[in-house]
Amino acid sequence: MKTTEIVLRKRPDGLPTAGDFGLREIELGVPAVGEVLVRLLWLSVDPYMRGRMSGLRTYVAPFQLDEPIAGAGVAQVLESMDPAVVPGDFVLGNFRWRQFDVTSAAHLKRIDPDQAPLSAHLGVLGMPGFTAFVGLKRIGDLKPSDTVYISAAAGAVGSFAGQIAKILGAKVIGSASSHEKVRSVVDKGFDAAFSYRERSVSNALKELAPEGVDLYFDNVGGEHLQGAISNMANFGRIVMCGAISQYNLTSPAPGPSNLSLVISRRLTIRGFIVSDHSDMQDSFMAEAADWLSSGKLKYDETVREGLESAPGALIELFEGANVGKMLVRVAPPEG
Ligand SMILES: NC(=O)c1ccc[n+]([C@@H]2O[C@H](COP(=O)([O-])OP(=O)(O)OC[C@H]3O[C@@H](n4cnc5c(N)ncnc54)[C@H](OP(=O)(O)O)[C@@H]3O)[C@@H](O)[C@H]2O)c1
Repeated sequence: MKTTEIVLRKRPDGLPTAGDFGLREIELGVPAVGEVLVRLLWLSVDPYMRGRMSGLRTYVAPFQLDEPIAGAGVAQVLESMDPAVVPGDFVLGNFRWRQFDVTSAAHLKRIDPDQAPLSAHLGVLGMPGFTAFVGLKRIGDLKPSDTVYISAAAGAVGSFAGQIAKILGAKVIGSASSHEKVRSVVDKGFDAAFSYRERSVSNALKELAPEGVDLYFDNVGGEHLQGAISNMANFGRIVMCGAISQYNLTSPAPGPSNLSLVISRRLTIRGFIVSDHSDMQDSFMAEAADWLSSGKLKYDETVREGLESAPGALIELFEGANVGKMLVRVAPPEG
C-alpha cells in the first residue's frame, strides 16, 4: 500500500516557508506482531514544532532532514496485529505526517468517539487543555482571589487557561491580536480582553487590573512579558508557558528591561513543560470532561483540510490565523 508523507526538506531561517517541507509517496510495509495499520484522521499542529524544525536539541529531539514531520494525531485502526486494538478503533498517539501508517500499537491510546468529538482529544481534552490545567494549578498556584492575565488568549492553551481560571473563581483578562479574537475571548467568559495591536499591554493592564496582576500566564514572551512585569502585584507569579513571539527570531531579542521589578515586587517566575506532569493527567481528564459536558468549558477549532495543508497550518500559527485549536483534517472516519 502507498501513502503520501510530509518531510522536512530544510531547516527554516526565520518564519518557516512552504519550501522547507516536501511531499512524497512511499510504500508502506504490512503490520508485524504488535503493530497496526492506521488511517490518519486528525493532526495537531503546535508551536513547539518550530523548535523541532531547528537542528537544536531542546527538551525534545529535532526532526531529521528528509524524515517525516510528526506530532499528535487521531487515527482509525484498519488492521491490527495487537490484541489491545481492533479494526475500527479510534486511537490517539504520536504519528508521522502521513495519510496511512504502520506503527507500534504500544504507544496508542484508544479513545471513545461517544465521549467527545475525536478532534477534542487534540485540544480541550488533549495536550493544550492539560497545559492550561497544569500551568494554572501546579505552576501558578491559582487562587480564587487572583487577577489573572493571559496572552494569546484566543488560542488553544490561552482560551482554556482563561476559562479554567474563571471556573476556579479568578478574575481573568486576556489579550489577542484582532477584534474577532477579542470577541471570542469575551464570549468564553473572560472578564475583559484587549487587542495588543491597538494598545500596549502595559497601558491596558494599568486600566484593567488597577490593583495589579497576581498571576500572568505567558504564552507570548517579549513585549507581552515586559508589559505584564510592569503591572504585577507584590508577590505575583508568572507562569512561562510559551514565548511564541520569539520562536522565529533570527537574532536574540533584548530581554525585558524591567526585570529589577522581580526583586522589588517579590515576583516568582517559573517555566514548565507539560509532559513532566503526567501525574496530573487523570485529575485533568476527570475535571475537563465534566466541565465540557456541563457546558462550562467551550472550545473553538480552526480546521485546514487534507494532509498537504499541514505545513501551511503550522506556518499560520505564527501569523495568528487560528481561533482556538489549529487542526488538520486528513480524512473522515470510515463506517
Ligand atoms: N510549556 C508547555 O508545555 C507548552 C505546551 C503547549 C503549548 N505551549 C506554548 O503555549 C503557547 C500557545 O500555544 P497554542 O498551541 O495554544 O497556540 P495558539 O495560541 O493556539 O496559537 C498561537 C497564537 O499565538 C499568537 N502569536 C503568534 N505569533 C505571535 C507574535 N509574534 N506575537 C504575539 N502573539 C503571537 C497568535 O495569536 P494572536 O493572533 O492573538 O497574536 C496565534 O494564534 C505557545 O507559546 C506554545 O509554545 C507550551
